[in-house]
Amino acid sequence: MKLSPSQRAILSGKKGRGAAKAMEILAALGRIHGAPDMVPVTSVQVSGISYNNIGEHGLAFLEEWAGMGSRAVVTATMNPGGADRRIWKSLGFPAAFVRKQERVIKALEALGITPTLTCTPYHVGVVPKLGEHVAWAESSAVCYANSVLGARTNREGGPSAIAAALAGCTPRHSLHTDAGRRPTRIVRVGCPVPTAADAGALGYLIGRLVSPDPGGGVPFIQGAKPPSGPERQAWLKALGAGMAASGSVGLFHLDGVTADAVALGSRLTKGVKVKSVIKELGEGYRALHRGQGRLDLVALGCPHASLDDLARIARLLRGKKAKVPFWIFVAEAVRLQAQAVGVAASLERCGATLVADTCMVVAPLKDLGIRILATDSAKAAFYLASHHGASVYFGPLEQNVEAALKGAWPKDQHA
Ligand code: F3S
Repeated sequence: MKLSPSQRAILSGKKGRGAAKAMEILAALGRIHGAPDMVPVTSVQVSGISYNNIGEHGLAFLEEWAGMGSRAVVTATMNPGGADRRIWKSLGFPAAFVRKQERVIKALEALGITPTLTCTPYHVGVVPKLGEHVAWAESSAVCYANSVLGARTNREGGPSAIAAALAGCTPRHSLHTDAGRRPTRIVRVGCPVPTAADAGALGYLIGRLVSPDPGGGVPFIQGAKPPSGPERQAWLKALGAGMAASGSVGLFHLDGVTADAVALGSRLTKGVKVKSVIKELGEGYRALHRGQGRLDLVALGCPHASLDDLARIARLLRGKKAKVPFWIFVAEAVRLQAQAVGVAASLERCGATLVADTCMVVAPLKDLGIRILATDSAKAAFYLASHHGASVYFGPLEQNVEAALKGAWPKDQHA
């Protein structure tokens, strides 16, 4: 694989031991994937932040790398960690866990990575443009960047994203190339997909469907459209997050909507022979909606909620009071915006809590005594059941708000 003179200098240790290790990792990955060279990146998003997921070995690995003295050379942000850094005590997070989590964050900060602690960097000012190369790791953020924004990133792992941050580049292969972005299959949707939860269920079905395709699949979706207005972004986020969870999709094209589909038109689907149809979403709902028993928590904000999402939830609550714990996960920067415009106060009056820096999937739920949850996120429903063994009610936002106000899951639309 071809390295430029400056990349060879990094590899030889001229920019420090940490950067040399980064370039070693990237060069090895490039060889494995048959990359011809490296492509410079403008931003990096690092996952594998929660101490709940990476444990003592992950922490030791990060602290050792941080001790080598190199720092990120491009904008680099962090995925959610395991706890809210400000209100962890009142939410019941164990102090010992929070101390470990802070060590993870400190090590990453020493590597020059900013503690945004969100899976939605595009809500906190990192918005790559069409054709811009980045190295993002969080799967829903990867889907959003590639599909909605038209940026170019593979699904990085935690270490490869850190390496890209320190070296400022990543191997050029797969979703960085025109060939890797071509659809592997046309998926025709034959049913209405009005809500973000429906989009999540559709994404879940598409992720499973395209999994056997080369590279984990790049679906070209026809027959589904996001709503207009502020719900459009939530719908697109949910669609990508759903398919990134059930499969290894990093890019989807939505006919007439997503960036590459709009830019390339019919050229994008030329020669695509594999075609599938999804006629209804019931199978997705049946797989994701398996809640039983009394609710411990209504959990929204997967991916992290935007200010528009929060305003919509506040409107749905209409000043009524939640009867069960009701957490909405956001980036700290979005929580601050919500506080500034009064949306946070209005939600808090209704018994909702804005929880930043973490999420329902990467937090230590068992330590918090949370076993039975409701959510509008297909991704969260999938991981809460498969990774935490939780019992999950899954449905549209309105049903979740109703559940919070009643203290129980309302009558099902999809059962
Ligand atoms: Fe984000 Fe956590 Fe969901 S990282 S996409 S809120 S699982």
